[in-house]
Amino acid sequence: MTKRRIILDCDPGQDDAVAILLALASPEEIDLLGITTVAGNVPLTLTESNARRICELAGRPDIKVFAGAKRPLIRDLVTAEWIHGRTGIDGANLPDPTMPLQDRHAVDFIIETCLASEDNSITLCPIGPMTNLALAFMKEPDIIPKIQEIVCMGGAVKEFGNTTPAAEFNIYVDPHAAAKVLDTGIKFTMMPLDVTHKALVTPERLQRMKDMNSPVGDVCGGMLDYFNRFDMTRYGFDGGPLHDPCVIAYLIKPGIFSGRQVSLDIETGSELTMGQTLADWWDIQEDKEKNAFICDDLDSDAFFDLLQERLSRLK
Ligand code: RIB
Ligand code: CA
Repeated sequence: MTKRRIILDCDPGQDDAVAILLALASPEEIDLLGITTVAGNVPLTLTESNARRICELAGRPDIKVFAGAKRPLIRDLVTAEWIHGRTGIDGANLPDPTMPLQDRHAVDFIIETCLASEDNSITLCPIGPMTNLALAFMKEPDIIPKIQEIVCMGGAVKEFGNTTPAAEFNIYVDPHAAAKVLDTGIKFTMMPLDVTHKALVTPERLQRMKDMNSPVGDVCGGMLDYFNRFDMTRYGFDGGPLHDPCVIAYLIKPGIFSGRQVSLDIETGSELTMGQTLADWWDIQEDKEKNAFICDDLDSDAFFDLLQERLSRLK
């Protein structure tokens, strides 16, 4: 398997934090070119500093972390402290970061990295609102041929939304950005709630992380203890859904996941269904371009075995 050269665009967030750790623990499959951050779960000042906190936890102060958009393209920012806590990574109990935040804006880092790369050589991994990516495509459309694939966490197809009945958080916060990213025509792979709601951090899986007896295991245990409670209460799940690491696990072991190529549209007109990811799952409109590969299932034991094995590499 050819190593993926990725830019991880995120809004840490406990699940984003685990995705960062999984990427850093998988150098055979992933070359993490940089982490770009966006306002989402919590404001940008927290998402960027949380990304740096997690890199330092992993012993990687060399990783380049960039701050990006402070708000969506058009709509007002909606945050999710009610799920993630005031800090965005409640339960982690990490000190303020000492590694530097990069001076360049995240959008400029995305553009410059892509322009300096071969065609089809970059994978963009948005696991928060897609504002940074949309701004990059608007500012410099010449980066489009440089991108091999966009693999995102977002959306809800056969599932209801988690932020409105129609919309999942990442897409709801910036639906215009998500629509612009989808409209680039770049190979688009989506991990919606349909699959992430099957990646549940059950008590056994959580205990296995804590039993690593490492700083990484302790922080993941504390973060997910906090993060789990909301969805377990709302949905009656026996664990919290581990949304964002599904994107990184897909890059490492795509065979864990399954889905189908369908036509996808994103609602940006109706306030009632704003941010809905409308997929033609049963190919009713046969002539429409099937512009997205959407995952709706995974081997959850294989996913958590992979996560455990990789996180245990980080001391
Ligand atoms: O709806 C889940 C998504 O919204 C995840 O990416 C989580 O981190 C939040 O950003
Ligand atoms: Ca996220």
